[in-house]
Amino acid sequence: MKLSDSKIEVARRHNKVVYQDGNRLVKVFNDRKPGSDVFNEALNDARVSEAGGRVPRVLEVSQVKEGEWEGSWALALEFIPGRTLEQVIDDDEDNIDEYFDQFVELQLQVQSGTAPALNRQKDKLRRMINSVKSVDPSVRYDLQMRLDGLKGGTKVCHGDFVPSNIIIPDDGSEPYVVDWAHVTAGIPEVDAAQTYLLFKVEHPDSAEKYLSMYSKKSDTAKQVIMNWVPVVAAAELARGRRQREKFLMSQVEVVFDYL
Ligand SMILES: Nc1ncnc2c1ncn2[C@@H]1O[C@H](COP(=O)(O)OP(=O)(O)O)[C@@H](O)[C@H]1O
Ligand SMILES: [Mg+2]
Repeated sequence: MKLSDSKIEVARRHNKVVYQDGNRLVKVFNDRKPGSDVFNEALNDARVSEAGGRVPRVLEVSQVKEGEWEGSWALALEFIPGRTLEQVIDDDEDNIDEYFDQFVELQLQVQSGTAPALNRQKDKLRRMINSVKSVDPSVRYDLQMRLDGLKGGTKVCHGDFVPSNIIIPDDGSEPYVVDWAHVTAGIPEVDAAQTYLLFKVEHPDSAEKYLSMYSKKSDTAKQVIMNWVPVVAAAELARGRRQREKFLMSQVEVVFDYL
């Protein structure tokens, strides 16, 4: 694909830049990102959409033809004019409880869908945990055992369900959920543990509010969700984000003082 000179930078991360280019949202990845990961994200978008999810349409996956990004893999999606739920909350903090209510309802709605063709949560977590050699092998073994006890799980688990991945459209229509790179077919409470952990990292004050809200609305004990926090924290370490390492390690080790 070609990027126009009028593109606007929406976000910049360690491995990619996200642009609005006219009516397209283009995620351009650096040259360390394998093409297979980019196709996997597009495939996830298509699968979730076919399972009835409200997801921006995939327009194209290809390598950028010219300019500073020449040769990089890029994913183009339909651009949804609107604001993320994170921006909405930042601008209207007095009504945070209502937004959290809406946020959890939306997560439960996503999780009510089934999409058995997606990658499996259990396999993905097991693979990620195994690759983190900085976690003690006995701790990893314990975490793997918890995963072995997981029965099947075919529910749509976004894997990165946070307010910055929800777009509230300007036209007043229903919210869109974006950023399906980590979606799996799995067990909802594991997905809730993931969201709880991400709140702990980015917005610690909101983590307990989220946990209480999710627990009540889904009728799931908080302990059931918290049981998965060390598992998802160990998996998150596999992403190699150095600034999160110390915190994630503390979340893994919290229940393993005896080892
Ligand atoms: N289809 C879209 N339409 C409009 N904005 C989008 C769309 N997809 C993503 N965005 C915006 O770009 C940001 C980054 O995209 P995202 O897919 O979440 O990538 P990242 O993996 O970097 O979080 C989002 O937080 C949102 O603000
Ligand atoms: Mg995102």
